[in-house]
Amino acid sequence: MRQVLVVHYSQTGQLDRLMQSVCAPLLQRADIHVDFLALQPAQSYPFPWPFLGFFRIFPETVLMRPQPLLPLAVDPAQRYDLVILAYQVWFLSPSQPMTSFLASTEAAQLLAGTPVVTLIGCRNMWLMAQEKLKQRLNKLGARLVDNIALTDACGTAASFLATPLWMFTGRQKPYGWVPRAGIDEAEIVAARRFGEAMAQRLTADGLPVEQPMLTGLGAVHVDEKLIASEKVGNRSFQVWSRLLAALGPPQSRRRGAGLLLYIVFLLCLIVTVVPLSALLKKLMAPLFKARIQREKAYYAGPSGE
Ligand SMILES: Cc1cc2nc3c(=O)[nH]c(=O)nc-3n(C[C@H](O)[C@H](O)[C@H](O)COP(=O)(O)O)c2cc1C
Repeated sequence: MRQVLVVHYSQTGQLDRLMQSVCAPLLQRADIHVDFLALQPAQSYPFPWPFLGFFRIFPETVLMRPQPLLPLAVDPAQRYDLVILAYQVWFLSPSQPMTSFLASTEAAQLLAGTPVVTLIGCRNMWLMAQEKLKQRLNKLGARLVDNIALTDACGTAASFLATPLWMFTGRQKPYGWVPRAGIDEAEIVAARRFGEAMAQRLTADGLPVEQPMLTGLGAVHVDEKLIASEKVGNRSFQVWSRLLAALGPPQSRRRGAGLLLYIVFLLCLIVTVVPLSALLKKLMAPLFKARIQREKAYYAGPSGE
């Protein structure tokens, strides 16, 4: 009997729907047992988010400072043939519940020497978050064998408005003039193919999973126009998160005031750096074709596009 653990958290239910679609084929197999570990923050995050409350968690998220979770309903001594980590991206970083799980003693025990598949559902900027998560997995001695990343259907420019509006109003299409935020429901249903490939591999023999199982299935798409924006954004996030954390605890007035200044800066960054670097990338693409392809292949790993 193969043992699979799925670690998950979702605020709106989107990532949980995606995770369930991927896991359905595993659950149908009598020779695969699946345990689900739902992460529960000790202090739940609000949804919809209050405007300033959304940004108050920015420093701790970017600095990957773990926040208290309710006791984890899992036996850390259990050995799993595969662990699926379903996480969303917050501020170009793994969301706080997943970061907190990875810092737990249970995760250290569960993940050492274990094959891991990451499953991301986010707006569309996940490259830096996955780099940070990869570093954590390396430290824990886990082996990343596949990555699945599904992103919002409305496109980069529209999602800069549509996704925050979803977060602040709680509705995926709050106004007629904004495109619907979130991952296309048909894509969520089609994600079942990843579970089918995993089930096939797990039941093919009793050997440890060492190679990617999802090659050729379109598990990720790397938008080369966003690589530079993510790198620049991440560097700037590192500096600002340290500054803002130094101003005081999340609810303090000083942090609130610093955040307001930061939000103005962030908006300027979004309307200048993101389109500018995308345009520059496009113009320079012919000169750096080989390098872009190398970077794309790197970020698409281990599953590939
Ligand atoms: C505080 C916060 C920050 C976010 N930052 C990003 C981001 O940097 N990149 C991204 O692609 N999506 C970002 N998102 C969108 C989420 O990744 C995700 O799509 C959305 O929260 C729905 O996930 P859910 O399954 O938890 O409901 C952010 C969401 C929140 C709440």
